[in-house]
Amino acid sequence: MMGNTRSITALMMAVLLLHFVVSFSTKTTDINTDQSTLLALKAHVVSDPQNFLTTNWSVYTSICNWVGVTCGSGHQRVKVLDLFNMSLSGTIPPDIGNLSFLTWLDIGYNNFQGLLPVQLTNLHRLNFISMSDNNFYGEISSWIGYFPKLQCLSMSNNSFTGPIPSDMCDRLPTLKELYLSDNKLSGKIPIGLFKCKVIL
Ligand SMILES: *[C@@H]1O[C@H](CO)[C@@H](O)[C@H](O)[C@H]1NC(C)=O
Ligand SMILES: *[C@@H]1O[C@H](CO)[C@@H](O)[C@H](O)[C@H]1NC(C)=O
Ligand SMILES: *[C@@H]1O[C@H](CO)[C@@H](O)[C@H](O)[C@H]1NC(C)=O
Ligand SMILES: *[C@@H]1O[C@H](CO)[C@@H](O)[C@H](O)[C@H]1NC(C)=O
Repeated sequence: MMGNTRSITALMMAVLLLHFVVSFSTKTTDINTDQSTLLALKAHVVSDPQNFLTTNWSVYTSICNWVGVTCGSGHQRVKVLDLFNMSLSGTIPPDIGNLSFLTWLDIGYNNFQGLLPVQLTNLHRLNFISMSDNNFYGEISSWIGYFPKLQCLSMSNNSFTGPIPSDMCDRLPTLKELYLSDNKLSGKIPIGLFKCKVIL
């Protein structure tokens, strides 16, 4: 009887522990996470001469109404972030990796600089990334992880250095367009690149 009670107690503790582990690991992101992500991005913008974000990205309106932001119609999560040609200067914070529903990221034609955060690799739904015409630097391989749906990657006209990763096509199996011109890349074009179905 004693042993039975003890094993029931043990079982209950195991269930409690499991419950804790499950609820902890499935702690989901939501629209509030998306809002804090975008506010973190706004805080990293040091210059916004045309006031695109300054007044428009206000906590008094839904992020789905913010300029450059499009939410999914069903789940109301940020699906598209399009800040193309807004004359923005600043850096991209690691928080960007929390926009879990992002499929389209266009920060091209601004004055963003610095390293791209490795947290970008968390965004497995992305099918379009453009950061062309900025001042990003660092090696390509430091942030290109595995993007299973990425169709277009545009990085031209920045200050990226180092080699083109030879396993790029394994990391980007659905890639159709790749733009790398006007950087400071070195080395040969890896033979592995021909595995991509890229049309330039
Ligand atoms: C922000 O910009 C969007 C798109 O241009 C516009 O529809 C919205 O009314 C603006 N919101 C504010 C608070 O200015
Ligand atoms: C950027 O926007 C300005 C207007 O603010 C426009 O004159 C210019 O053509 C745009 N550039 C590109 C590359 O779209
Ligand atoms: C988002 O990501 C950052 C860094 O990657 C993390 O420190 C932060 O806690 C996350 N924010 C939320 C609201 O989940
Ligand atoms: C490179 O990008 C800058 C904006 O960051 C732009 O002014 C310049 O014209 C671009 N150069 C080329 C060769 O496209």
